[in-house]
Amino acid sequence: MQTIYRSALQGENREFQARNIPLEGRLPTWLSGRLIRNGPGSTRFGQQEVRHWFDGQAMLHQFDIHHGQVDYACRFLESQARQAAESSGQISYPEFATDPCRSLFKKVMTLFGRSSSDNAKVSITQFAGAYMALAETPIQVEFDPETLRSAGVFTYEANPVGQMTTAHPHQDAEHLYNVVTRFNRVSEYRFYRMGLDRQTQMVGAVKTGQPSYMHSFGLSPHYAIITEFPFVVNPLNLLLWLRPFIENYQWKPRRPTVFWLLDRETGTVAGRYESDPFFAFHHVNAFERDGEVVVDLVGYDNASIIQHYYLNRLTDSQVKLPHGTLRRYHVQPGKKRVTWEKLTHDCIELPRTDYDRYNLRGDYRSVYGIGLRGDQPTGFYNQLVKLDTQGGATLTWHTEGCYPGESVFAARPGGTADDDGVLLSVVLDTTAGNSFLLVLDARTLQEVARATLPQAVMFGFHGHFMAGD
Ligand SMILES: [Fe+2]
Repeated sequence: MQTIYRSALQGENREFQARNIPLEGRLPTWLSGRLIRNGPGSTRFGQQEVRHWFDGQAMLHQFDIHHGQVDYACRFLESQARQAAESSGQISYPEFATDPCRSLFKKVMTLFGRSSSDNAKVSITQFAGAYMALAETPIQVEFDPETLRSAGVFTYEANPVGQMTTAHPHQDAEHLYNVVTRFNRVSEYRFYRMGLDRQTQMVGAVKTGQPSYMHSFGLSPHYAIITEFPFVVNPLNLLLWLRPFIENYQWKPRRPTVFWLLDRETGTVAGRYESDPFFAFHHVNAFERDGEVVVDLVGYDNASIIQHYYLNRLTDSQVKLPHGTLRRYHVQPGKKRVTWEKLTHDCIELPRTDYDRYNLRGDYRSVYGIGLRGDQPTGFYNQLVKLDTQGGATLTWHTEGCYPGESVFAARPGGTADDDGVLLSVVLDTTAGNSFLLVLDARTLQEVARATLPQAVMFGFHGHFMAGD
């Protein structure tokens, strides 16, 4: 059965600019800055439809919040993948789960000399004065936050062929950190850092025969945490390229999930630890306490969530999405086995925290995300949740016919608690036929204001809020 929100999964958004969009409620006087979001703006490449939620054409959405009003603009990311599709009328680069036809891809390679898509549609990062749109291919696109126009590409290595990166780098005041998987006969997970001078340096690496699919990684005060799920690929299959990228990966339920700890400074492998097999897209936080490394993430019993995100399934109102839950893993030096527990039983995805102030800290409490209502457990995510890592009650926000996206935390200046601020989420309103920027009090999840957009925005992934006038 088709859903009322199908057009937010399969369709196309228009490029748009609108000043002072209609606002209900009052924005906090301190709330000033720019939210930029990333996600698919179209599932069509020319005449061809993509197959998976992770395949659409990247579109950037900008919300300028200042003096109690909101200006909105959106623009497709200017990429070679988009340019090539416009000239050929078809998808021209391999995406996550949709491939171009081989003869077309050969022509594109000859024209552009590049085998990886620069359709960076997953997340946004800001470091050393640059904004970048990121995906899992090694081509990350720098853009101008004012105009949303592309300003060049970035890669961790001079020759990025045969790589994937995570879409979720970590950062502190001096460095941006990421993990790059380099596929070869013996493959490697390479831990990189970039300085304020934008020079990159490989800090350390872990060798592997069958690399795991990784969307994020963990960082604690002393370690990079590479979580190797038993969802793995024979690198030869990627070389032969007989099927779309992700369909080369297999779930191996007899293998453990392995936590590799790498020293953040020296890159040396500090330990290899095993847990029950599980899968995750998103690490949430990591810290060190009483001699152990604590890793919080949104875990699944297996990787079937990836199959559920194919658009033919996701647009079925009866789809039952596997529930990701907030889990805590305890990595203890001297003990090979990692223990874990669920911090809550509530469904959550696209988890966010007060990263700037509480990342790496064991006293963080609040995890914000999208989830599924207990009384409406089928179909797409239909509520926002706030989970408490210290056992407090789960709070939710939901409205009939509304489907919220990731909620990004914006801290109140001078506040200290990790819920002293607001949450910013783009919500699809199927009743009104448009979307709105929802502003919630992060402490209570009560609505503060909403600013209505001139169109229904397709379901996206991640955003970044930068405070400032
Ligand atoms: Fe993500």
